[in-house]
Amino acid sequence: MHEKDLPKEVPGPIGPTETRSGFSIPVADRVLRLPPYLFARINKLLYEKRRAGADVIDLGMGNPSDPPQDIVIEKLAAAARDPDNHGYTESRGILNLRREVASKYFKQFGVRLDPESEIIVCLGSKDGFSHLCLALLGPGDTAVVPAPSYPPHVYAVILAGASTISLDVTKPDEFLSRLAFVCQNLFPRPKVVVVNFPHNPTTTVVEADFYHELVRLAKRYSFLVISDLAYADVTFDGYRAPSLLAVPGGRDVGVELTTMSKGYNMAGWRVGFCCGNAEMVRALATVKTYYDYGMFRAIQVAAIVALRHTDAAVEAQAREYQRRRDVLCEGLERLGWPIVRPKATMFVWAKIPEPWASQMSSFDFAMKLLKEADVAVSPGGGFGAAGEGYLRLALVENEHRLRQAVRQIGRCLGQAQNQPPARVAGT
Ligand SMILES: Cc1ncc(COP(=O)(O)O)c(C=O)c1O
Repeated sequence: MHEKDLPKEVPGPIGPTETRSGFSIPVADRVLRLPPYLFARINKLLYEKRRAGADVIDLGMGNPSDPPQDIVIEKLAAAARDPDNHGYTESRGILNLRREVASKYFKQFGVRLDPESEIIVCLGSKDGFSHLCLALLGPGDTAVVPAPSYPPHVYAVILAGASTISLDVTKPDEFLSRLAFVCQNLFPRPKVVVVNFPHNPTTTVVEADFYHELVRLAKRYSFLVISDLAYADVTFDGYRAPSLLAVPGGRDVGVELTTMSKGYNMAGWRVGFCCGNAEMVRALATVKTYYDYGMFRAIQVAAIVALRHTDAAVEAQAREYQRRRDVLCEGLERLGWPIVRPKATMFVWAKIPEPWASQMSSFDFAMKLLKEADVAVSPGGGFGAAGEGYLRLALVENEHRLRQAVRQIGRCLGQAQNQPPARVAGT
């Protein structure tokens, strides 16, 4: 059995902490504040089905299934053979990697960054985000977070002891006006605002004017901005995701997180970056020196090669996701399931069609697809109440498998392609 078929890491529901010996383990309150893992039921069924031999098409997690480029893997192997590369490294990343990130920012966004003070290497952008929350937030502080949300955007804030205010991100203009309203009316004002465009899970995107206004509000109401730009490299139809740091004043108020997980297919390598405001980068570096010793140097050396030499492959990977998007969306549309095509990310955010939308929750609908169609998807409710009524489908299987997924979904929903389609309410 391949490792991908094993049950995904599933934190158990938080509850009584008594061990078999009867000795009780009083875990910290911050752990008790975390909810039970919402995808546990689905992952368990996925695991059971695969064990029983079912060929489940897994569109659940945004885990890239294509490999990194050969030259990157070869560099990793060569660097791993070098005895000098096996010791502890600087927790903020080796200078040459930080320099390469600066070059990439200049190529991609026209932004000049100082590798010494404005860039830090993280063990994935999730590590960067969660430790940044520890560095900036504590009890009594509030962070504005996206709704629906990539769960760490909420729970890293909670783990830091702070509180969250969730604002709908699906209409970015309204997000900004609600943010201004919150800043005018809430006391104490939010200390941090987390934004994530292109957005996981809704795929909402923004243009640069969004960040102009965000920076204006940040200066007016004195909040810090953390922009999670994880999907900077996965954009479609000519759309380019803008950077907070490219607008005037961006780096006065915030930092931006980027990653090699998505565009470079290096999710398991854990390479991410936090760039921008030097004080915020320094605060993150301070926390990280107490938590980690930095990334395996061989990985950093190979990451330099990837950043320097594989732009064309990153472009090609984005086009691959775009083709998969088209196959999946066209297929679902043929079933009478209208879909708003994403301009970025590796997801499709699909409104659940009638009659199922009024009959069952997104969890139950996702369970139905898994049980009856052998297709695993993420229920929107797993991304918070604002995601209810939707499913997130990750474009991590090839076009052939996506066509197969559509056929199986069609059969499960009783929508033979020549029959009158079900209609999605309000679309
Ligand atoms: C919005 C967002 N941020 C961060 C991450 C995590 O990226 P990394 O692998 O760099 O930790 C993900 C992964 O799915 C994501 O969707």
